[in-house]
Amino acid sequence: MQVVEIRGQGGPEVLHLAQRPVPACGPGEVLVQVAAAGVNRPDVQQRKGLYPPPAGVTDIPGLDVAGVVVAVGADVAWPRIGDAVCALVAGGGYAEFCLVPAPQCMPVPRGFTFAQAATLPEVFFTAWNNVIWLGRLAEGEALLVQGGTSGVGLAAMQIGKQLRGATVLATSSSAAKQAVCREMGADAVVDYRDADWPEQVRALTDGRGVDVILDGQGGDYTPVELGLLAPDGRLVLIASHRAPKAEISTREIYIRRLTLTGSTLRARPVAYKGRIARELVEQVWPLLEAGRIRTHICGVHPLADVAAAHAVLDANEQIGKLVLTVSALAETVPEPPA
Ligand SMILES: NC(=O)c1ccc[n+]([C@@H]2O[C@H](COP(=O)([O-])OP(=O)(O)OC[C@H]3O[C@@H](n4cnc5c(N)ncnc54)[C@H](OP(=O)(O)O)[C@@H]3O)[C@@H](O)[C@H]2O)c1
Repeated sequence: MQVVEIRGQGGPEVLHLAQRPVPACGPGEVLVQVAAAGVNRPDVQQRKGLYPPPAGVTDIPGLDVAGVVVAVGADVAWPRIGDAVCALVAGGGYAEFCLVPAPQCMPVPRGFTFAQAATLPEVFFTAWNNVIWLGRLAEGEALLVQGGTSGVGLAAMQIGKQLRGATVLATSSSAAKQAVCREMGADAVVDYRDADWPEQVRALTDGRGVDVILDGQGGDYTPVELGLLAPDGRLVLIASHRAPKAEISTREIYIRRLTLTGSTLRARPVAYKGRIARELVEQVWPLLEAGRIRTHICGVHPLADVAAAHAVLDANEQIGKLVLTVSALAETVPEPPA
């Protein structure tokens, strides 16, 4: 099968097409013939040597796929051969065939193309895990999403608005990106390049602060964000692009009962990811099918042009998601499940 390999560490030029054998299903796994694969920031981090795959996981990058199941291992009740699925994987998405633990498969939402479905797993799993489970966003609370037009950010904002009726605030760096944040459900958007962005956020909450912050920056943002939380607020970290270390006031945490938490998804057990998959299918998939939650795709590239897709992320030009088309089925809408 054709795959993308990362040879060395560096810019998009270290991505190369290669041939590898089609993998065989083990128990609990299915083999998906990939129609389309999502591109995510963690793939860029892996390419730079900053986010290696967990032990035992393929070195082929790619964290989400959509396609057709072509083989099923032992002990798999669903999906079946021929089913159209999208799935979260810990690696291996940039390839013509991809092994997937069965619990991490979800049906392609009705009316979605494979390419659209491939943009869903990584960002919605991450948003669900961090905004709903760890952030415990409750009805009517205020949510601040750093980097509103990131794939994860758009998923988080829409989950907050549509499922919790939250007041959604976002940060973003350009007029075009801010417009997309508003279009996708943000009540207000602040430019993080403004030195007074924290004061702007505070003013938008009438001085009260926000209940949940989803942040991938860390570093010097962390004490500022703790200061922006309302009493009982939760700061959820999903990366630390600014810096891994921060100086914070621990006093602030106990005086105002704040929670500082975070997660990565990739190394979590299959059973944990399977629980997220079930909740997404129950609670988010109907909203996707009704058009109340949307995916926002800013670029579609054939697998052979993977370097061009990564260059867009390197330049921080993406708004929402980039997708790789892997087979001729990518732009087709599969038959809904019987
Ligand atoms: N922990 C996990 O499980 C997990 C899983 C997936 C992704 N992630 C992380 O989640 C984040 C989003 O991932 P993605 O693939 O959706 O990323 P992405 O599309 O590459 O987006 C990155 C975002 O970071 C924003 N940003 C850059 N500098 C910023 C700053 N100084 N202040 C605020 N925002 C800033 C960008 O905003 P502008 O475009 O407006 O500049 C952009 O929206 C990334 O940090 C990624 O590493 C974590």
